[in-house]
Parts: sequence; structure tokens; C-alpha cells
Amino acid sequence: MRRPVIGAAACLLAGAAFALETGYDWPLPDWMPPPPVPADNPMSAEKVELGRHLFYDARLSRDGTVACVSCHVQDMAFTDGRAVAVGINGSTGAKNAPGLANVGYLPVLTWANPHMDSLEFQALIPMFGENPDEMGSVGQEDAIFAALTADPFYANAFPAAFPERPAPDLYTVTRALAAFQRSMISVSSPYDRFKRMGEKDALSDAAKRGEQLFFDHKFECYHCHSGVHFTDTIQTALMLEGEVGYHNTGLYADYPAAAPGLIEITGRSQDAGRFRTPSLRNVAVTAPYMHDGSIPDLRGVIEHYASAGRADHPMKDGMIQGFKASEAEIADLIAFLESLTDEEFLSDPRLSDPWPEGHPASVTRQMP
Ligand code: HEC
Ligand code: HEC
Repeated sequence: MRRPVIGAAACLLAGAAFALETGYDWPLPDWMPPPPVPADNPMSAEKVELGRHLFYDARLSRDGTVACVSCHVQDMAFTDGRAVAVGINGSTGAKNAPGLANVGYLPVLTWANPHMDSLEFQALIPMFGENPDEMGSVGQEDAIFAALTADPFYANAFPAAFPERPAPDLYTVTRALAAFQRSMISVSSPYDRFKRMGEKDALSDAAKRGEQLFFDHKFECYHCHSGVHFTDTIQTALMLEGEVGYHNTGLYADYPAAAPGLIEITGRSQDAGRFRTPSLRNVAVTAPYMHDGSIPDLRGVIEHYASAGRADHPMKDGMIQGFKASEAEIADLIAFLESLTDEEFLSDPRLSDPWPEGHPASVTRQMP
């Protein structure tokens, strides 16, 4: 059953920086509180719908070829299947595009920037960032907002979403994108049905055995991939502060040269090679894996942990000790990870491309 969570929780939060919405119907079961929402960007159905159109609108890029969807594709849980992202004119970055399922629950965004704590601000990076050059729109603001203003859909959608400030500009575009992304909620996997809704047949026997391994001290997965989203990085509307986990899992012997991680921002030697723990929801459809896409499949990830990481590094997390896993155990653990795939989310029409084929908003670029 889906219903919005309001009432007692809203009282708890009186006076807090975050407010629960009363005017927005969260697509959530009663066991899951909504993500926090900043007081200056309340959710509304109109704003989410506007944000959906912008997310799929290639006119936000310099030459009309790249939209958010170019690197965040729904049936891959909003990642892109590439090792590292490819931006405008084929420019490549160093990072794997993370999936966006439940992104509203993340108190810090990106693989290793502890200061990036707002979806509103984050949306500026792909549009206007120059390194990597994802959408190349720096200096093009006027032309981009003029194109949006001229579109008949937006002529109604901006005033409906922002009655007090109805024009397409940085303020409204980034807020609508953030509201849409907060609506990307994925909590309907077979494992959720098994664990939270008492459907004993929702999991195969292999997945049930894999669950035992995942939560076992030999494998240690659950220490970092903990909680309802299988990551130690989380904030809900009921938590006044977020929890954040960054770990060095031993991918490289020469961190920070190979991949800096958190040290890039903090400058602290103990942060070399530390990256934010990714959620494992929908992980079966988000290959390749890790911050740089350097592991092609789930079996490779398990082998990486089984051998205590690919490489030794003094800052490697103490939990990465290695273990012996039989072929049957590996298969069971993979079956468990596959049970975290939420098919409803991957095809939810509320999250899919709203533009008709051939519309100027559509992404036309052939992806390499
Ligand atoms: C060229 C590919 C590309 C495009 C286009 C792109 N992104 Fe991303 N996105 C990435 C990569 C790569 C990262 C990881 C960056 C990092 O960790 O430093 C990312 C990270 C994110 C994150 C943080 C997710 C997390 O788990 O912390 C959000 C949110 C996001 N993108 C939203 C958007 C939005 C909104 C747009 C459109 C305005 C967009 N992206 C366009 C590649 C892209
Ligand atoms: C010490 C904390 C820690 C432990 C223990 C741990 N992980 Fe991870 N996991 C991480 C971090 C951090 C990353 C990202 C590392 C990077 O990109 O450099 C990650 C990445 C992953 C990924 C890739 C996800 C993606 O979207 O790219 C998978 C799959 C995964 N872990 C599964 C597991 C399994 C299965 C276990 C148990 C065998 C496990 N992890 C144990 C912290 C941990």
C-alpha cells in the first residue's frame, strides 16, 4: 500500500530545517519515511513534472545534444552502462555515473565530495561544469532560457510550478530538477516484498541463502552497505543529521595517484582512496561498478572483496580482510543482489521520458 507519511512525523520535526510535505503524495509505503526536503524548495506535483521534462531536455546543453538522461537512463536505474561518463563532443570524465534511485536520501552527493550536499546545487555541475565538460552550457544561459521560454509546454509548466517566479532561470530550473530527483524512489524490490511485506515467496532459496551471507561476519558486506538502502550514507526526513560513510576498499595500491577519493577535497592523508559507499538497490542493472567503472560485473566485485581488495594500501578499510567463498556461495550472493532490483522503478511512467519522439527536447546524439 502506498500512502504519504505525514502527521506524527511532521510534529516531530516542527522547528527543524527540513519540513515534511503535506501537498505532495510521496510514492512511499508506510515503512519508509520520505527524504528530507529543503524548506525553500517544497515538493509539488507540478514541480516534479516540470523537473521531469527538464531532466529529459537536451536543450539544456550547449548544442542541444546532451540531457541528464544521456548519462542517467531509467532502465539502468539512472546510470549509463559506461565505465566513465561521456559528455558533450565525446569528452570523458574520470568517474562512473552513479544511479539516481533514492538520491534524495543522500546527505552528500557524488563519489567523494563531502561539500556537495544539495541536489539544487548539484544540478549546476553537469550543466555548467567545465571539467569534465558534460553539457557545456557555461556562458549559454541566455540562449538556453530563451529556448525554454519559447516552448509551449514550459509556458504553462513554469508558472504552475513556481507561481511567484514563473520564468525559466537558474533558480527555477535547478529547483525543479531537484524536486524531480527527490521523487525517484525505489523501495519495491522482491527483497522489500520479502522483508517488509511478509511475502515469503518473493525470494528464491538461492537469494535467501545469499541474504544470510551478505549479513554474515565472514563477508562483512552489511557493515558498510547497511540500512534500508544498503549504504551507510543516508538521511531521511526523520533524521536531523545525515550519516555518511567513505571507505577505501583496496582497488589501487597507488591511491591517491590512481584515484584520489576524499583526500582530493580534505587534503587528509587518511582519506586517500576513500569513496562514498554506493547503495546496492538495483545494483544488478548498474554495471560496470565502482567509482571508475573498473569492475565489469557482480562476480568481479565479490572476487575483489574475497581477495581483500585488488591491491594493498595502508588506508584500506579494516573490514576488507578477504574471505574464502565457494562457487555456490558466490552464486547465492549474486542471487541476493539481484533480488534488490525494483522492476516497477525501472519502468515507472512517472519517471520516464515525457517528450514525443522527434521533439527538439529529445536527445538525438548517437551514444558511443
Ligand atoms: C556526461 C554525463 C553526465 C550528464 C550529462 C549528467 N550527469 Fe549526473 N553524474 C555524472 C557523473 C560522472 C557523476 C559522478 C560525479 C562525481 O562523483 O564526481 C554524476 C553525479 C550526479 C549526481 C550525484 C549522484 C550521487 O549518487 O551522489 C546527481 C544528483 C546527478 N549526477 C544529476 C544529474 C542531473 C540533474 C543532470 C542534468 C542536469 C546530470 N546529472 C547530467 C554524469 C553525468
Ligand atoms: C569497508 C566498507 C565496505 C565493505 C565491507 C563492503 N563494501 Fe561494497 N563498497 C564500498 C565502497 C566504499 C564502494 C565504492 C568503492 C569505490 O568505488 O572505490 C563499494 C562498492 C560496491 C559495489 C559496486 C556498486 C556500484 O554501484 O558501483 C558493490 C556491488 C559492492 N560494493 C558490494 C559489496 C559486497 C557484496 C560486499 C561484501 C562481500 C561489500 N560490498 C563489502 C564499501 C564496502
